[in-house]
Parts: sequence; structure tokens; C-alpha cells
Amino acid sequence: MGRVLIKNIGCLQTPVGSYSHKGSKQGVNEKYLDAAVAIEDGIIKEITTGGKLPAGDFDEVIDAEGKLVTPGLVDGHTHLVFGGYRQHEIAMKLAGADYLDILRAGGGILDTVRKTRAASKEELYEKTWGFLDEMMDMGVTSCEAKSGYGLDLESEIKMLEVIGDLAENHAMDVVPTFLGPHAVPPEYEGKGDEYIEMTCQEILPEIKKRKLAVYCDIFCEDSVFNAEQSRKYLTCAAGMGFGLKIHADEIEAIGGTELAGELGAASAEHLIAITESGMDAMAEGGVTAMCLPATSFYLGKTYAPAKTMVEKGIPVAMASDFNPGSCPSLNLQIVINLGCLKYKLTPEEVLTAVTINPACAIGLGEKVGTAEVGKQADLVIWNAPDFEMVCYRLGSNLVDRVIKKGKITVAR
Ligand code: NIG
Ligand code: FE
Repeated sequence: MGRVLIKNIGCLQTPVGSYSHKGSKQGVNEKYLDAAVAIEDGIIKEITTGGKLPAGDFDEVIDAEGKLVTPGLVDGHTHLVFGGYRQHEIAMKLAGADYLDILRAGGGILDTVRKTRAASKEELYEKTWGFLDEMMDMGVTSCEAKSGYGLDLESEIKMLEVIGDLAENHAMDVVPTFLGPHAVPPEYEGKGDEYIEMTCQEILPEIKKRKLAVYCDIFCEDSVFNAEQSRKYLTCAAGMGFGLKIHADEIEAIGGTELAGELGAASAEHLIAITESGMDAMAEGGVTAMCLPATSFYLGKTYAPAKTMVEKGIPVAMASDFNPGSCPSLNLQIVINLGCLKYKLTPEEVLTAVTINPACAIGLGEKVGTAEVGKQADLVIWNAPDFEMVCYRLGSNLVDRVIKKGKITVAR
């Protein structure tokens, strides 16, 4: 691949440090003016400022034309792999049904489970490849991807194999999460405890043996899995060496965030209905808040108290939650807008929330999430002079070019 120079960067804005940024650190970004970045074999070797250029010869020179450059965005929570779509739910919602009503009636997640079970590995691979392209086109260079629409051994493995194949073949860095307990499958209706038991005894050991997931996640929610079932499953997963994630306090606060703090989960996700005790537990346990504002928008719910969580010293990340039900959008630029407008985070806090903090929450903090010497050269050149512009413009794709491991993967 050789040596690549990115020159003529108007402003290189980035958080610094390969750790989760919390409290006042969340809002600290470096802003290097008139900068250049030297890259060797996909890794950042030198950053210069004030119009100075790195020394040496380069095989390729990329002219940033005075624009803003940031680290590649990291989408830390997605449900990327799924069969079919659920556009018929729009009519149900217009008729007054809410998210959990649809699920309780055997639709929602369970509808996607039927379609995902019926889909071939090849179909899922092709479809998800397209989503990864679309994400990268909008500035995302690393993401997490959850299973959770199979809900049995064979179909969950099929989903995780698709994620694994994509991680190997697509330019995107993709981190796999097993979300077997996403809903109680029809075969186990009314028997959630038995489904958790089967997951712990049969599915987790197989996933572990085949190294198909890095994290395990559960939907801890009223009418889905309660806190005791979540504790059992997450404890079992931790014992096998998986990192922990939990969908918690999305609609009702039923103890998921307290559990996340107690177990030292990598992240608790959604948090729309989080209470003081949940926030205290997360701060205490060092749990990242994975906030999903586009889901609040799409479900017509309130917004997670992200600003309060920053003030309480909880590292805040923001992600798309891309899925066919509660948020059929993979546009992280809209999440950036909502971070400012609804969460009231500053542009610097927002940039941290879509780069280093999610990177750390999916185990990639040493490798991506900041533009620093030694890190992977994952960068976005924006059609914008500064990050305020990205926070301010709504609905357009402001990406100019995406650079992944030193190579241009998107040029618009
Ligand atoms: O994170 N809440 C649970 N899971 C997803 C939605 C999945 C779906 O509706 O298909 C979420 O919002
Ligand atoms: Fe989700």
C-alpha cells in the first residue's frame, strides 16, 4: 500500500487518547489547523500543522482542499442483518399501535424473525453488504452488528456467520454481537426462563467454540426479558469470556442499567427511561451509555438524558440502532444533528460520542476512533469547513471522501 499523504487539511478535529472520554473530557477535541497526515501501510505516522508538510516521498497524495477532516465515524449499535422489511407497521402505528403492542401481538421483532429464518445466507450477505456500503458512504468506517432475528441455534449461527464473512470481506471493521435473547421465540411462548436456559446451555457454547461473537447482548424490557433473566444470561456470557451489552431502559426502567453497572458491562444501550439509580450504577461501573436518538425520533419517545450522563461522568456514545422496526435509518449524520439539537451536547461532545467512545465500547479503541499517530488511518474529509457545519446541516450527506486504512473507499 505504501506511503500516502493527505495535505491541505483546513481543520483536523479529533478526540485524543485510546480510552472512553467522560465528564469534561467528553467535550475536548484537538483542532489542528492547516494540517497534513502522513500514512504508511494504513497507519498514521505523522500529523503536521501550520502548513508544514511531513518529510519524505509519497506514493499517493490526497488533497483535502482546505476542508474539515475527522476520524471515521463509529456506529456502535446496529441490527444490520435481517430478512424483509416492516413498512406495513407504519399503518399500524397510524392506527394507534405502539412498539410493544405490535411485538406482543406476534409482529415486530417476531415478524423479522420469520423473514430472517426464511432467508438464505447468501441473500442476507448481499443485502447487508449494501447497508455497509451505504454506511461507509455516509462516513462510517467501523461498526458493531448484532444477531437476534434467528432466535434458534441454526438461524443465530447463520446471522453471525454472515456478519463474520462481511467482516472479513468488506472494508468496514465489523464487530459481532450475539443477541439471542432479543425476544422470546414462538416455540418458547410463555417460557422465557427456558429459552434463557437453552441459550446458555446450547447456543453460547457453540458461539464461543466457533468464535462467532465478541459481545453478548439482551433486550431487558417489560414483556421481553426481565432483570433476573438478564442477570442469568449475562453472568453466563461473562463466565465464557464474552463482553457484555444490554438493551436497557428503552421503554420501561426495569433494572437493566443497575445490572449493567453491577456486572461492569461495556455498554448499556437506549436509556430513554433511565432513572437516577441507573445512572449512578453506570457511572460506578464504568459503563458506556450507548444513546440512540434516531430511535427516540422514530418511536416518538422522549430523548435519553445524555447531557446529564456526561455531567455524571458516564462516557456517552451515540449510534444509529439501524434495524427494520424501531429505527430503519443507518444515517449517523442525523444522529449527529439530534445529539446537538435534542441531547444538547456540544459539537465536540458529539464528535467524541460518534468516534472514540463507541470505538472503546466495541473493543476497537486502541485501533480506531481518533486521528493519532499509531492509529489506523480511518478518516473522513467533509464538505464542510468545521464540525459545527456537520451538526447544523440536516438531511444532506456532507461526506466528500472516506479513507479506510489509508485507502480512499468513497469519493463523492
Ligand atoms: O434496539 N429494542 C430492541 N431491539 C431493537 C429493535 C428491533 C426491531 O424492532 O426489529 C432496538 O430498538
Ligand atoms: Fe437495538
